[in-house]
Amino acid sequence: MPEERTPVRAEGQQAGEPMPGPEAAGPAASVPDLPADALILIPVRNIVLFPGAVLPLTLGREGSIAAAQEAARRRRPIGVVLQRNADVAEPGPDDLYGVGTIASVLRYLTAEDGSHHIVCQGTSRFRILNYLDGFPYLVARVDPLAEPEAVSDTEIEARFHQLRERALEGLQLLPSAPAELVAAVRNIDSPAALADMVAAFMDVKPSEKQDILETSDLRTRLDKVLWQLAHSIEVLRLSRQIADQTRETMEGRQREYLLREQLRTIQKELGETDETSAELAELAKAIEEARMPDEVADHARKELRRLERMPEAAAEYSMVRTYLDWLIELPWSVLSEESIDIARAREVLDEDHYGLEKVKRRILEYLAVRKLRPDGRSPILCFVGPPGVGKTSLGQSIARATGRKFARLSLGGIHDESEIRGHRRTYVGALPGNIIQAIRKAGTRNPVLMLDEMDKLRAAFHGDPASALLEVLDPEQNSTFRDNYLAVPFDLSRVMFIGTANMLDTIPGPLRDRMEVITLSGYTAEEKLQIARRYLVGRQLEANGLTPDQCEISDDALRRIIDDYTREAGVRDLERQIGSAFRHAAMRIAEGGADRIRIGADDLQEMLGPRRFENEVAMRTSVPGVATGLAWTPVGGDILFIEATRMPGTGQLILTGQLGDVMKESAQAALSLVKSRAETFGIDPGVFQKSDIHVHVPAGAIPKDGPSAGVAMFSALVSLLTNRTVRNDTAMTGEISLRGQVLPVGGIRETVAAAVRAGIKTILLPSRNRRDYEEIPQSIRDQAEFVWLERVDDVVASALGPTAADRS
Ligand SMILES: Nc1ncnc2c1ncn2[C@@H]1O[C@H](COP(=O)(O)OP(=O)(O)OP(=O)(O)O)[C@@H](O)[C@H]1O
Ligand SMILES: [Mg+2]
Repeated sequence: MPEERTPVRAEGQQAGEPMPGPEAAGPAASVPDLPADALILIPVRNIVLFPGAVLPLTLGREGSIAAAQEAARRRRPIGVVLQRNADVAEPGPDDLYGVGTIASVLRYLTAEDGSHHIVCQGTSRFRILNYLDGFPYLVARVDPLAEPEAVSDTEIEARFHQLRERALEGLQLLPSAPAELVAAVRNIDSPAALADMVAAFMDVKPSEKQDILETSDLRTRLDKVLWQLAHSIEVLRLSRQIADQTRETMEGRQREYLLREQLRTIQKELGETDETSAELAELAKAIEEARMPDEVADHARKELRRLERMPEAAAEYSMVRTYLDWLIELPWSVLSEESIDIARAREVLDEDHYGLEKVKRRILEYLAVRKLRPDGRSPILCFVGPPGVGKTSLGQSIARATGRKFARLSLGGIHDESEIRGHRRTYVGALPGNIIQAIRKAGTRNPVLMLDEMDKLRAAFHGDPASALLEVLDPEQNSTFRDNYLAVPFDLSRVMFIGTANMLDTIPGPLRDRMEVITLSGYTAEEKLQIARRYLVGRQLEANGLTPDQCEISDDALRRIIDDYTREAGVRDLERQIGSAFRHAAMRIAEGGADRIRIGADDLQEMLGPRRFENEVAMRTSVPGVATGLAWTPVGGDILFIEATRMPGTGQLILTGQLGDVMKESAQAALSLVKSRAETFGIDPGVFQKSDIHVHVPAGAIPKDGPSAGVAMFSALVSLLTNRTVRNDTAMTGEISLRGQVLPVGGIRETVAAAVRAGIKTILLPSRNRRDYEEIPQSIRDQAEFVWLERVDDVVASALGPTAADRS
């Protein structure tokens, strides 16, 4: 017989009175002693006893009767524990929850029909440690659980208050709520006790009550009770309304009709009106119109059916809804009509970009091949070069020239595969990866998709983004690209991918192999002037709301900006500075100071401030010990100063300026070379023991490495020790060997361009770099003299000036 919650009405007796001795108590034979920390357990079904609550129990099982009698006889409390499964007739340890309630037996009585009953009152929670054998009922050693202290905590108080209000509200909905209960709820002053009391009275599943019983953290317990209570109140209220609203139609109708009516009312209550069904119908229509591949359309319909069965308030509803939106909005079958007309493409490229002859020709060749073999595997173009040289804008031009849409995504800093391939939908807030996002933005299945900053793809922590990207780019695989979020294949095979990067070195090898690299190395001053004239000036006028009639800028002024206000391989800073000048002009016009402004070279000082890069080299090299080197960085070439100084000491070499190992070694090699040639240069050999030498490379925050500064370091040291300055219009690059040879270095084209930009007139290069000379544009070659170095001794002859007798 199941123990049930049938209240026992023992005439004239109220629960809570002191317990008289049990009537059927007899001494048990050969039962072990009950240890002090052991508890006699009574398993119950379908009911959870909370501390403070009084509970009548009907005892059906022999074991339970014996247990209750023994507890009463020994005047011991009992442990009331819920069965996990109500159907188990004789529950063992495994069938019971691990947390129960200690209860004192207030009364034991046997009814007229011979059934046994007890009335017990919960006192506190306990956890079962282990069961003890040898008893005719369940006995376990237990650990009593202390009730949480009622500390003053606003979080707790707020919940306590809220719980009381809601409990009173709930009681009002119960027509039969006893007045004492209302009073008790009002007067109780312990949050834990109120939570238990409300939990005891709520009409929720036993397992849910058990969960509350097991929650020891007070705040969590209050939250759980509040949540359940709110839910119960909602149910109560709703069922009341249903009863009201369906009462009239109830009589004589069929059951099905009644159910339908209830469903309608519930839906109405939950806000699911006809609007919802209209929305669903619209989704269905959109799915049919999205021209998805069959497989995807089937999948979408299935998701839609799932959606139809969900209540709109369910959290999953909006997730599925968003997912369907993605499926619907992707351009499964939208293709731009491609037109590869080479002559027209040439026109477009010329329209958008000045110069770049070689680059344009390579692009046109590439397009021609694609035209001849539309389904052939063409390599992926990758533009490599310093910032602002037109990589991104060339991509846009290609899109325009081929009639495709353009989209770009930046790979800079991506270190997680899921950024490329998306998160599974099981993640909260999951979205497709940025390839699919870019495709949706483009709105067609065959856009030009620019993958910017391929060199900044970061090494992976979570799956390898580079390998995900490889899959995207691989023509064998990308027709069935699977985004984790979409979980259905999307065909990327018609996308034209173009990569960009500042440098090749850090692009992962397998990716680099897939690409046809086109290098853009930067512009000469003359090219920049042309670009400014033809493109930047017009664009910046418009951006600042000026007409060509209102404002003009002279070639001299542009040249001055190029030389003295910017030092870059590209034209981005140039455009910015032109913009600043125009903003200044626009303001003057707006203030009514002038109708028409012509910006000449002399006006720049006022508009842009003092020149930024003027004479830097001359200034720096005016003392012995400073040489101008050339460096090749990811953002193009640059000049760099090597400074050496000497102080009394013991012959140490100090190196600063964030130098890498290779650069440090060059400095050591340079010093050894100087020592070995001291006599030739007229340096007192004793000086090396008496002094410490400090070599510093400014711009200290930027890490520098590489062997190419060797020659400049050597020059700086010779300059320092011979007290001769390095010529202020001379810069140099080259690796040195301990035997005094000058070895070739990379990036000649870029570094030479940078030197010329900085106003250098004589450039010293390793003679083994002579073959790179051909690559240097004529306009740059014309601006400087080149000296070819075989050995370090050649440096001294051309780079060092006369002795600065007046310095020491
Ligand atoms: N040859 C050129 N003719 C006309 N405009 C140019 C030329 N080269 C660059 N520009 C202009 O310079 C600006 C910067 O170019 P873009 O944004 O393409 O640089 P980028 O090479 O992509 O640089 P980053 O590496 O920083 O992304 C653009 O407005 C572009 O139109
Ligand atoms: Mg760019």
